[in-house]
Amino acid sequence: MEPRFATRFKGMKSSIIREILKLTAQPGVISFAGGLPAPELFPLTQLKQAHMTLFDKGDSAFLQYSTTEGDPSLRSWIAQKMNRQGSKVTDSNILILSGSQQGLDLMGKIMLDPGDYVVVENPSYLGAIQCFGAYEAQFLAVESDAQGMDLDHLEELLKQYHPKLIYVIPTFMNPTGITMIRERRQRLAEIAARYQVLVIEDNPYGDLRYSGEDIPPLKAFDEAGWVVYLGSFSKTAVPGMRLGWVAADPQVIAALAQAKQGADLHTATFAQAALSEYLHQHNPEAHVERIKKAYKERRDLMLACMEKHFPKELKWNRPDGGMFIWVTCPEKVDTVELLKKAVEQKVAYVPGISFFPFEDHNNCLRLNFSNASNTQIEEGICRLGQVFHAACK
Ligand SMILES: Cc1ncc(COP(=O)(O)O)c(C=O)c1O
Repeated sequence: MEPRFATRFKGMKSSIIREILKLTAQPGVISFAGGLPAPELFPLTQLKQAHMTLFDKGDSAFLQYSTTEGDPSLRSWIAQKMNRQGSKVTDSNILILSGSQQGLDLMGKIMLDPGDYVVVENPSYLGAIQCFGAYEAQFLAVESDAQGMDLDHLEELLKQYHPKLIYVIPTFMNPTGITMIRERRQRLAEIAARYQVLVIEDNPYGDLRYSGEDIPPLKAFDEAGWVVYLGSFSKTAVPGMRLGWVAADPQVIAALAQAKQGADLHTATFAQAALSEYLHQHNPEAHVERIKKAYKERRDLMLACMEKHFPKELKWNRPDGGMFIWVTCPEKVDTVELLKKAVEQKVAYVPGISFFPFEDHNNCLRLNFSNASNTQIEEGICRLGQVFHAACK
């Protein structure tokens, strides 16, 4: 069979990383590869109760088609939460999404013509690179340091290329774990307004802080409406319900809602109603505190094990939150090749190469610390240490 796929999909390479990672499904493999929350911490009882309450209420609207914008009670909960964190939004700024990933796709759909420029961090979230790539965007890689995006470099890019979008993960970035400092957030919001370019602030990890001081989201510095904020319930509640949201200027929300109609009409009413019931009746903040405590312990344990087992040639950061540690190996180490050796030792990570828009760095890797147990972290990092020692010889 030879389906006549669209030209933009013909360029999509079959990923050897995906092929190797398939092997991690084998029994006994400890995987630090996925970006998964800890399933044993899911709020099972509360979610079960929330679903049962819906059925017991006797109003079957939660099983009916509904508006594209989403469940009013859920939108209002989100607007209040965002306002507490410093943003100025009302319910009319919120559109419920089928996962925040859908927001990336819809932004691509409403904003990008083939060849349009999109600024991304270098590295950036793989799912965003794939998504904008499918709309035939051209990437501009902006440099970053430990305090976030280099805004002088960003301004140079804006002047030279007039990109349509800037995509940034300012808080506990995936994959690097870096958080943009407050001053840069302020300046980035000003830059967006001055150059009249939309900035997508992708913030699925913002509530998962384990150390350091809270910083308001970029959206909180957005006076003129150029920040399009993507939020998610995947990391603070459960990913399986596929619920997220976008908060943006009403003009952007209207275009996104129109695009969403073509994608899925609306996000599942059942899931929205159940989550809303959970959020309003079951103390979701206490749940977030519980997972933060567990993830902090896992982060600290993984860092301590890395200190003990990894060769001194490797460098890594100490993230204040989120789910990832980013490791840089000496130039000569190819982390895609090394993954094969790691999987032989029954341990896995994600090679860094796919997070770079131009796939031009092959000596980095990402480790996830939220999904593995303490025993798995101790054993897995010890195994990885042996693999890295051999590679650095
Ligand atoms: C930076 C980033 N954006 C978006 C997503 C997608 O999240 P969701 O489950 O809300 O679609 C993820 C998932 O890991 C992510 O890391």
